[in-house]
Amino acid sequence: MNKMPLIAPSILSADFARLGEEVRAIDKAGADWIHIDVMDGHFVPNITIGPMVVKALRPCTDKPFDVHLMISPVDNYIEAFAAAGADLISFHPEAGAHPHRTIQHIKSLGKKAGLVFNPATPLSGLDYLMDDLDLIMVMSVNPGFGGQKFIKEQLAKISDIRNKITTSGRNIRLEVDGGIDKETAALAVQAGADVLVAGTASFKGGSQFYANNIRMLRKS
Ligand code: DX5
Ligand code: ZN
Repeated sequence: MNKMPLIAPSILSADFARLGEEVRAIDKAGADWIHIDVMDGHFVPNITIGPMVVKALRPCTDKPFDVHLMISPVDNYIEAFAAAGADLISFHPEAGAHPHRTIQHIKSLGKKAGLVFNPATPLSGLDYLMDDLDLIMVMSVNPGFGGQKFIKEQLAKISDIRNKITTSGRNIRLEVDGGIDKETAALAVQAGADVLVAGTASFKGGSQFYANNIRMLRKS
């Protein structure tokens, strides 16, 4: 893997009082995808963004909305996020009883489907789901908050998934989420990641720094 990774800034680290402006600014700064962290205060210990906010932000950019659902049960809200303008919808296998069905549901709405693995979640079951996935995400922090430290043990998981994707011959993106900075971005890409989520590292310093922040991550 020597191609440049895509950068997906997480708006969790944006100024929520000026969210529309922040999305426009990070788009202009070169973001490839806009990563939207949806938390319910139940699956994870924090509450963030719902479909109404996603819908309100949709006119602010043409970039794909990479919607990361940290909600349980997840199935009840897939349609609302699809209708609000999500392009990719990712969920955690623990968040519903039937991950295969959830993937089919997302695909039936014409959206790309992603599966997210928490730090302690093994890859069991993944082999049976690969055929329908567009994205696999590895959490390199425990989900719930921005600004946490990258868990290096996840690098082995990233490599394992990269091997599975290569073997499958399918066009599946491998995204890493949590604690990404210049150093950990390089480690994640070496391990096989091709999309990097970055909240803190993208939005630090104010909008005049966003383009430079993204450039630094991409060329790491
Ligand atoms: C954590 C979220 C991440 C988070 C990343 O639950 O899924 O997307 O915002 O933030 P940083 O880059 O600050 O670790
Ligand atoms: Zn996320």
